[in-house]
Amino acid sequence: MTVDDGAVGGRLSYDEPDDLSEDGGIHVAGRGKAAGSASPFGGERHPDPCSLVMFGVTGDLAHRKLIPALYDLGCHGVLPLGTTLVGYGRQEISDEDFGDLMRTAIDDHYGAEVVDGSTCERLLQAPRYVQGQFDDPEGYRRLAAVLEELDGAGARGNRMFYLATPPSQFEVIVRQLGDAGLARPGAFDRDHAAGEPRPGWTRVVIEKPFGRDLQTAHELDAVIDKVFDERQVYRIDHYLAKETVQNLLVLRFANGIFEPVWNRRYVDFVEITAAETLGVEHRGPYYEEAGALRDMITPHLIQLFSLVAMEPPASFDADGVRDEKMKVLRAVRPIPTRSIEDWAVRAQYVQGRADGKDVPAYRGEERVAPDSYTETYAALKLVVDNWRWQGVPFYLRTGKRMARRVTEIAIHFKRPPVALFRDAAAGGGLQPNVLVLRVQPDEGFSLTIESKRPGHAVALQPVAMDFSYGTTLNELPFSAYETVLVDAMEGDMTLFTRGDQAEEAWRIVGPVLDAWAKRPERDLSIYEAGSWGPESADALIARGGHSWRRPTKGDER
Ligand code: BG6
Repeated sequence: MTVDDGAVGGRLSYDEPDDLSEDGGIHVAGRGKAAGSASPFGGERHPDPCSLVMFGVTGDLAHRKLIPALYDLGCHGVLPLGTTLVGYGRQEISDEDFGDLMRTAIDDHYGAEVVDGSTCERLLQAPRYVQGQFDDPEGYRRLAAVLEELDGAGARGNRMFYLATPPSQFEVIVRQLGDAGLARPGAFDRDHAAGEPRPGWTRVVIEKPFGRDLQTAHELDAVIDKVFDERQVYRIDHYLAKETVQNLLVLRFANGIFEPVWNRRYVDFVEITAAETLGVEHRGPYYEEAGALRDMITPHLIQLFSLVAMEPPASFDADGVRDEKMKVLRAVRPIPTRSIEDWAVRAQYVQGRADGKDVPAYRGEERVAPDSYTETYAALKLVVDNWRWQGVPFYLRTGKRMARRVTEIAIHFKRPPVALFRDAAAGGGLQPNVLVLRVQPDEGFSLTIESKRPGHAVALQPVAMDFSYGTTLNELPFSAYETVLVDAMEGDMTLFTRGDQAEEAWRIVGPVLDAWAKRPERDLSIYEAGSWGPESADALIARGGHSWRRPTKGDER
């Protein structure tokens, strides 16, 4: 198999697949030829087999992320035998058609010519499909019957319900699962010696967004709480599973040199950027309802912010980390409703060139209202009222159809207190040190420092100390969805968002959402597709005496 990782332009290849291994997993002899290493899980992960029930199998998320990630898990030898994929959906399709649908998703993602057929065969061996409306108890009864059959046939009573549907369906599905008795663990081995069937586990995985605002998030949590125990609930934020995001904690807490300067005394400001070149693709109706603030900032960027800003946790178990994140979220100063434009900016793209081609305005995209006021770009300033961060602004920005696909966290340090080398500095004067954590693409990090150019004269030039997964470790990071699927199957909650965190994120953005809802036309700027966003965002950051980075290929290294 050869996997083309478009993100880094490299190719990760695997050798011939092995036969089934002794522990029953689907194994591939799998050496990343380019990377020179075996499966990224290093044989360390051993999730239980389960029935993996996917709601929303015909949707964009399943097609683009989930199914390819399952295939990767098959290739990496971590999907145990006995795991069966079960689709639940409104369309009338057969088990075989469901299998074909999955195969198409894998082919579309990697290219049919490079996909490993035998891994697919094993992964898609006897998938099941249950037709039913999301609110139809009869459908859930049919699902329960299928699950019971699978419990005894290898799933061992373990069931994972993955809600990859539009958020409007979450409540009804959760309620129906509860009513059908499916929130309880399944059971297997009814005849074993002790006389009682052995219980498995039941987990529910919920995609973002968790509600549309604080109130709806709270209502959703109340419904979930009635049906499931919080320890059964896995709220996905796939950004937390990205390799560099996890490395951020290692960088901060496994090295002695960063933590002492990670505070208001040395840090000038922090920038968190998630720029995409893609538009809304086929997700017009969802995106029209969401917009950039709900789609990217509230879930993903606020999570990244909390990892940058949190205090060291007492331990690295799920609650140790999640408690610290919660504390820093609570310390974010409420955004004042009276001068929202000093704190937040929204904009929409007009036609331009992105990814080397002419692209239409957002209002001309498929299934988008021609007079839409939905923002495709949002920027937000946060300040944290605690001892560590008092006075240090955090700027978050995200946009569709931007100049480059790049997600990064940039920690801008203060200039040295005495400018001894002012006259020797290149062009724009002494450059402050910047630590850039590249989340994607070209995952890694770099620290820019002023250095002397060789020669008799003292002339300075900023240089970068750089670490890149691709070139330094010779490893390519793997898909975030692969990680979250394995974690959920293993019951590790560290990378999942707790209900209280999701609600706190809504508390932070609440005043902005309210203000924008009141004046949708007035608050909306425009930017050209393929640019770095609107002038109003430049003005927002300039008010603090700062400017956004403009990462171009190569200069972030
Ligand atoms: C999703 C958003 O959560 O993240 C999408 O709904 C966005 O709009 C996507 O495109 C970006 O994820 P990634 O992993 O491609 O950066």
